[in-house]
Amino acid sequence: MMDNKTMEPVASNGRDEAELSAYEKAAAEDLDPRCIPQNLDGPPPVGDEIHYPDYPAEDHEIWHTLFERQMQMLPGRAGEAFMQGVEILGMTPDRIPALRDLSRNLEAATGWRIARIPGLLHEKDFFTLLANRTFPSTDYIRGKEELDYTPAPDLFHDMFGHMPMLTEPAFADFYQLFGQAALKAQGADRPRLERLHWFTVEFGLVRQEEGLRIFGAGILSSKNEVTHALSKEVEKKPFDPAVIVETEYDVWHLQDLLFVLDSFEQLEEGFRSWTKQRGLLQ
Ligand SMILES: [Fe+2]
Repeated sequence: MMDNKTMEPVASNGRDEAELSAYEKAAAEDLDPRCIPQNLDGPPPVGDEIHYPDYPAEDHEIWHTLFERQMQMLPGRAGEAFMQGVEILGMTPDRIPALRDLSRNLEAATGWRIARIPGLLHEKDFFTLLANRTFPSTDYIRGKEELDYTPAPDLFHDMFGHMPMLTEPAFADFYQLFGQAALKAQGADRPRLERLHWFTVEFGLVRQEEGLRIFGAGILSSKNEVTHALSKEVEKKPFDPAVIVETEYDVWHLQDLLFVLDSFEQLEEGFRSWTKQRGLLQ
């Protein structure tokens, strides 16, 4: 499962192999033009500034199919915070949500807002938005032929996968800190942060009283990852930032190792202390 728009390939000439992100290493083979990062040519529209596209009926049908399919599988698998987040944001299967409505609901919950972006972003733009408590989202949906998998960003992954967790206060604070730290990171700290992002924001698990639950957007927005993630085929390790930042992962296949949080407070505190040690945050 490909991530959307984080730490995408940038010029890697002359950089040490250890400093390259998984995307940078894969960039040579990745020729899908939708996966080439774009520069913002000005501040993107945020919240009420975002207009609702005139989606064809087929796009709403694709949303309906994906939303229903994931929601059927998620009770007992997705974390409580995610399930509540879907409600708080007011997402329903009948039509593609408007980014400005999602932004308004999210802002009331945790002070995060949503920016509409044209596609994969360069790191600096992406992190700057996160650092300002603004989540960048696309507003176009994958085609019918890509229901199960798309290598490119799309609104189903951005809205359904990512936004519900931003209603969780400690997660919301952590993600802003992540943006701030990522803006400062240099050299090998950049892929380290990328790994931390991968194993939490995209592929994180959390332990609840009832058992292990999913909160990572890369899992929650993918049919195959949802059934795979909690299976015995996947090794689970306890959350430890020092371990995660040195753990390699595979962008192109189902994950065989995941990390488990005890709580979102643990994520925020663990991240704070790791970044402090690295001099990335005060
Ligand atoms: Fe993502």
